[in-house]
Amino acid sequence: RWQIDPQGTGWRDTPEFEAAVADLLAGRLVAVPTETVYGLAADATNARACAAIYAAKGRPSFNPLIAHVASTEAAGRHGVLDERAQTLAAAFWPGPLTLVVPKRPDSPVCDLATAGLDTIALRVPAAAIMRELSQASGRPIAAPSANRSGCISGTTADAVAGDLAEHLALLIDAGPTPVGVESTIVGLTGNRATLLRPGGIAREEIEAVLGEPLAAPAHSPGDAPEAPGMLTSHYAPRAGLRLDAIHVEPGEALLAFGTPLPSGAERASAVAQLSESGDLHEAAARLFTAMRQLDAGGVARIAAMPVPETGLGEAINDRLRRAAAPRD
Ligand code: TXA
Ligand code: MG
Repeated sequence: RWQIDPQGTGWRDTPEFEAAVADLLAGRLVAVPTETVYGLAADATNARACAAIYAAKGRPSFNPLIAHVASTEAAGRHGVLDERAQTLAAAFWPGPLTLVVPKRPDSPVCDLATAGLDTIALRVPAAAIMRELSQASGRPIAAPSANRSGCISGTTADAVAGDLAEHLALLIDAGPTPVGVESTIVGLTGNRATLLRPGGIAREEIEAVLGEPLAAPAHSPGDAPEAPGMLTSHYAPRAGLRLDAIHVEPGEALLAFGTPLPSGAERASAVAQLSESGDLHEAAARLFTAMRQLDAGGVARIAAMPVPETGLGEAINDRLRRAAAPRD
């Protein structure tokens, strides 16, 4: 485990940083903090390294991975950035936005990373450590959220260690991730810009910059999903989850959002407050840790208070609905 200060740059000229670059170049897996969640990172041009990502996560199928790069210019070497992409990149990169665009045939990103698609998901993260690792290694970095497939994404180094320690050459610890939910994914492969996954940047902000509403992904349940993160049951805690709870039933834990707490809250087996003041950014940042916390208590069911469907609330509700979806 290597601890860094995500605000500073002192880590850049250290033997640990060199070791992280060497690990990536050798095809090993490194857990890297980003502003959204921790990533399970590998060299995106190395198919064996990407295979190791899928194996470590226990992904049931090869869901395509996001390639993280250091700049918009670097992104343009792997994908075709049209005018919409350039506009969004200028507004939101570096930051929690992922763009799905046509893959350049000469991009060295391996087919396993893109799951054989002719499109590629690209992101320039705000987290300097991820950008610098890409820059220093000269490689795009494939990184899904650092959690076992279908489980809650890791937003702290401890959560990542608990899920994946035995698969990691190195875990870079930058403390809790500030945004707390994954990046927003926008598809730019068709005529309409499409919201493939709500995330760290609110739909409203993206629509304001694009000057048009984002379309919904065109797939019906059962189709091959456009963003397999959209698989219905996902981000699942062990406990069951009950949404829009306006009271707490005996034996339930409470995932609270603001006050007043619902009736019966006093008999909740545990309470995790996402944001006392009802702030959606704070709630997003705490979401996955709160779910892990309640889950660790071994409770049978979590009652979640309603969260408004605006701003980052869309991403929070998306993750809560997936966590509540029936599974087998
Ligand atoms: O914030 C994030 O996005 C984090 C950090 C580590 O960057 N990463 C992350 O990766 O959430 P992951 O693998 O958990 O989710 C990536 C999503 C998946 O649902 C995948 O299906 C979708 O991106 N995706 C990747 N490539 C795609 C493509 N070519 N077309 C459509 N969806 C794609
Ligand atoms: Mg994930």
